[in-house]
Amino acid sequence: MNPVKISVAKGDGIGPEIMDAVIRIFDAAGVPLNYEYIDMGKKFYDAGFSTGMTPEAKISVETNGVLFKGPMETPKGKGVKSINVTARKTWSTFANRRHFRSLNGVETVFSKAGIPIDITIVRENIEGTYGGVEHMLTQDVALCRRFITRPGSIQVHRFAFEMAKREGFSKVTCAHKANIMKLTDGLFLETFYEVAKEYPEIEANDVIVDDLAMKLVAKPQQFEVVVLTNLQGDIMSDLCAGLVGGLGFAPSANIGEHISIFEAVHGTAPDITGKNIANPTALLLSGLMMLRYLGFMDHANTIENALLFTLESGSHTGDFGDRNTPSLNTTEFSTTIIANLGKVPASGAARHSRSSAEFVHPVAPIQQKVMVGKETLDETKLVGLDVFYESRNNAATDAPTIQKHIPEGFKMVMISNRGTQVWPTGSVFTECVDQFRLRIETVDGKEATQGELFAIANSISKDLFVSSVELLRYFNGKPGYSLAQGQ
Ligand code: NAI
Repeated sequence: MNPVKISVAKGDGIGPEIMDAVIRIFDAAGVPLNYEYIDMGKKFYDAGFSTGMTPEAKISVETNGVLFKGPMETPKGKGVKSINVTARKTWSTFANRRHFRSLNGVETVFSKAGIPIDITIVRENIEGTYGGVEHMLTQDVALCRRFITRPGSIQVHRFAFEMAKREGFSKVTCAHKANIMKLTDGLFLETFYEVAKEYPEIEANDVIVDDLAMKLVAKPQQFEVVVLTNLQGDIMSDLCAGLVGGLGFAPSANIGEHISIFEAVHGTAPDITGKNIANPTALLLSGLMMLRYLGFMDHANTIENALLFTLESGSHTGDFGDRNTPSLNTTEFSTTIIANLGKVPASGAARHSRSSAEFVHPVAPIQQKVMVGKETLDETKLVGLDVFYESRNNAATDAPTIQKHIPEGFKMVMISNRGTQVWPTGSVFTECVDQFRLRIETVDGKEATQGELFAIANSISKDLFVSSVELLRYFNGKPGYSLAQGQ
């Protein structure tokens, strides 16, 4: 088997301790990997690299296509973006796969009750609110834009179904909040069922995300693969980590078309850094996901069996296991796993039906950024404008002032505050903040031009501070905007 070269960033805090432990295990098992160590993490922010990595590190990842990384600290309050999120977004790793399952030797309420857990979360990894596109619109109102896109959603759904097909899962569940966020989560759900049609052999269903939270705690065994948007997936996957014994057992893979990143879910654990007591299991499990992704199935199975045997026999680091037996430090724990290579756990050997690698090597060189999206263009029609304005008056007080700026052919439809209609009708009990949304539409649904609409906003700005505008468009005859509550 030809060795594969991968980029390795040990990371910050406990990163180097757990990465060294995992690579010792890989070496002992004869995994055919060449490691290219790269400079990435807090030290490199501090040294003046604004992205937290050196240009050589970037080239290494873009050439090798696989990054195995330890946790990294993003300096707080320096106006820098998280290196972890930046890496996932820059390299378009659109699907974050996290696997949570009961491990013998790791006691949880479910293991005590004899309920086995084996859940794979597939989280959309680069959209949602994680773009961090945020603005203060007034002194009292902050806005974060949440991007849900058709191509982004299709990519992550297709990944979930392909994974389910390849690895023998029978069911994929989409979790969402489409009952409230009808356009964003609605698009995520709609594309889920579009993609599901291509996989008739796999059961597809959906669940509202708050219901999912309750069901995961009450009856986790009913889920196999759950696909979610970014923030909802982030929260639900930590919940799943809790079900199987905590973050020390939560691995993750960030999968993209060309580049993939494998890392533990947990952070740098500054409270235990330098003590050689961190649990390397989550990083090791992430490494096993990487080995299978690369096609090293036998090596992955051998190491996984050794890990399961080790856990089953009661060996543990300080963060889990029987408090009455002494804990092992990071080095001792990895040495025990190495000693157990070749052994098979009584509870059953590692089982993985996948027979081929997902990884395509070498990474195809890309000359320019790829534009993803629908091939056909929707028919669109511009019918109005939402004007977000700042005011400390009641909407009814400002309405006559605004009316002066509305030209013939257009009408004021409503004013809302925090999404609830307050004019022309509303309730005196609706508390308001200093930012209102005024909806203007054309009379009789006629088509408007951008110029006409921006001219109205411009005119209103002579009397009121306009903090933002949003165009109202129809796409293939359907409104591309939501109604206000109470409208
Ligand atoms: P954390 O996951 O580092 O620590 C939370 C708690 O879990 C701590 O008590 C820690 O000791 C314990 N813990 C975590 N991993 C452990 C392990 N392998 N073995 C034993 N105990 C472990 O989360 P926290 O404290 O919120 O974040 C610390 C730093 O990590 C922050 O700078 C944060 O930005 C960064 N971080 C990085 C991530 C990444 O690189 N993917 C993910 C999450 C946080």
